[in-house]
Amino acid sequence: MQTTVVRKIDESNIDLQVIRQAGRILQSGGLVAFPTETVYGLGADALQAQAAAKIYQAKGRPSDNPLIIHICCFEDIKKIVTHIPQAAVRLADAFWPGPLTMILPKSEAVPYETTGGMDTVAVRMPANRTALALIREGGGYIAAPSANTSGRPSPTLAEHVYEDLKGKVPLILDGGAVGIGIESTIIDLTEEAPLILRPGYISLDMLSGVIGEVHTDPGIAADRQNCRPKAPGMKYRHYAPKAAMFLVEGTRERVAAKINDLTRTAMRKGKKVGIIGTEETAGDYEQGYVVSIGSRQEEEEIAHNLYRILREFDESDVDIIYSECFETPRMGQAISNRMLKAAGHQVIEADESG
Ligand code: TXA
Ligand code: MG
Repeated sequence: MQTTVVRKIDESNIDLQVIRQAGRILQSGGLVAFPTETVYGLGADALQAQAAAKIYQAKGRPSDNPLIIHICCFEDIKKIVTHIPQAAVRLADAFWPGPLTMILPKSEAVPYETTGGMDTVAVRMPANRTALALIREGGGYIAAPSANTSGRPSPTLAEHVYEDLKGKVPLILDGGAVGIGIESTIIDLTEEAPLILRPGYISLDMLSGVIGEVHTDPGIAADRQNCRPKAPGMKYRHYAPKAAMFLVEGTRERVAAKINDLTRTAMRKGKKVGIIGTEETAGDYEQGYVVSIGSRQEEEEIAHNLYRILREFDESDVDIIYSECFETPRMGQAISNRMLKAAGHQVIEADESG
């Protein structure tokens, strides 16, 4: 066990002393957790094989699950990829810095420890000033998965990182709550047609508005083993709370009635029940530990609150979580994808009788 120091960082007035100290840790092969606009990341020098290996150890992450390399200026991409397609230039112009990760053919500079043995590499430039300053001070190429223990919901607060990685990392930069709250969109540009491997804040429509036809990997919507997702990380039961979670689907009245019913039954058996509703519906529930995830009209708010709520349920030791489903036309599958994974694809139809 090592001591974990948490340093507060004000994004609008960054203490360069702290960033330099963090940069030295990274350059000497150590780990630093830091905020990005999506979720907190656990950083290491992506070009040092030993450093990347430390990430897998701290997170308890399977070593075949590749890491995203974070850069702070577009030019830097040249060193880590063998080819920069036109689509990458256009997407970077439109969305970097921002919550978009591109998969490109990797160069020899990138060790296989960072890419989980793959010949492609994931690259992203985050839209967070603390992150950008840290990447610069750390040598320019920072591998960073979400800073959670493998299998837990991604951290959206420094406190979440501390919970999971206390004693395993020397330094956590605390930049407060992240903005978006779910991980970046991943697009694979090594295929003939660009392919979304993980849905996120940057939607399919936004991407195709810039580069034309874009497809979505059918593997990400699939339940477990039917169809293998192309991003190795998408096959794991990610984002998961400790409790068994169920999504309840149907019309508003039916969903509330069904959840009330299920909650009564579970509580009679001595179970502690958590319910995820919305501002509009939270009042419909009679019992259980009811949490509002935000307004149904505000999908950004739903994304922002999701992981924090799942972690709060962990803390309050609920045994079962029943959640409503939400329409999210702007972000498309991004939120439903996380919710389905958190629930291990357990969906209950409220509209069916019985
Ligand atoms: O928003 C984010 O992307 C956050 C912040 C910290 O930047 N990072 C993040 O990293 O979510 P992580 O490691 O939790 O998720 C990376 C995903 C995994 O599903 C992994 O399998 C996939 O990216 N991935 C990485 N490199 C890949 C590659 N070469 N080919 C296909 N998938 C890849
Ligand atoms: Mg992750």
